[in-house]
Amino acid sequence: MKKIINVAIDGPAGAGKSTIAKAAAAKLGFIYIDTGALYRTVGVNALRKGIDVKNSAAVVASLTDELKIELKFIDGEQRMFLCGEDVSKEIRTPDASMAASAVSAVPEVRKYLFDLQKNLAKSNNCIMDGRDIGTVVLPDADVKIFLTATPEARAKRRYLELTEKGIDAKYEDVLADMIERDYNDSHREIAPLKQAEDAVLADTSELDLQQSIDLIINLIEGKI
Ligand code: DC
Repeated sequence: MKKIINVAIDGPAGAGKSTIAKAAAAKLGFIYIDTGALYRTVGVNALRKGIDVKNSAAVVASLTDELKIELKFIDGEQRMFLCGEDVSKEIRTPDASMAASAVSAVPEVRKYLFDLQKNLAKSNNCIMDGRDIGTVVLPDADVKIFLTATPEARAKRRYLELTEKGIDAKYEDVLADMIERDYNDSHREIAPLKQAEDAVLADTSELDLQQSIDLIINLIEGKI
């Protein structure tokens, strides 16, 4: 049997993980697994049930036997299903981001999603991205990358993205938001965002998208 290759990419919000990981996975013929989408789906389920996502006990109670969260690949794209319904679009709203961030701090939620992530990696050559992939989910990954950029570089990219979509935004607000999210992600008690000891640090502050993709592909190819 051929060895399965697992690549873990972690890093803060706005570092371009998903775009870069998706492009690298396509080039290498691996599947790309966006684990943030799982937390987002748990968040959307809680919102739909009218649960206060900051109430951990209520969030835990939302993980019922009836809850069914599935990740499927359709035409090569990851899609999320909540009790049979495709919620891939709904999980991208600002409310869903906020809910995902809250539910991801609940240990039972992390435990609930752990096996799903593990099993996907066991049977597929994959690039999995998130916050705790190299540290908790796939500590034995063949390649671990911590992808980051300065808060200013990430805020600038996010700001341009928003204004290109015609969404009114102020750079200062986007930057403040980025700094706050970094703080929350890296200071929560369970599975905080941190670089695994054996992860390679990739800083894309001074790189454009194509240069970032090339850097990641080179890092992976150099290790497998
Ligand atoms: O990567 P993202 O922005 O879609 O993630 C949504 C939220 O889920 C974010 O607040 C961080 C959290 N998350 C996490 O705690 N662990 C992961 N492996 C992936 C995401």
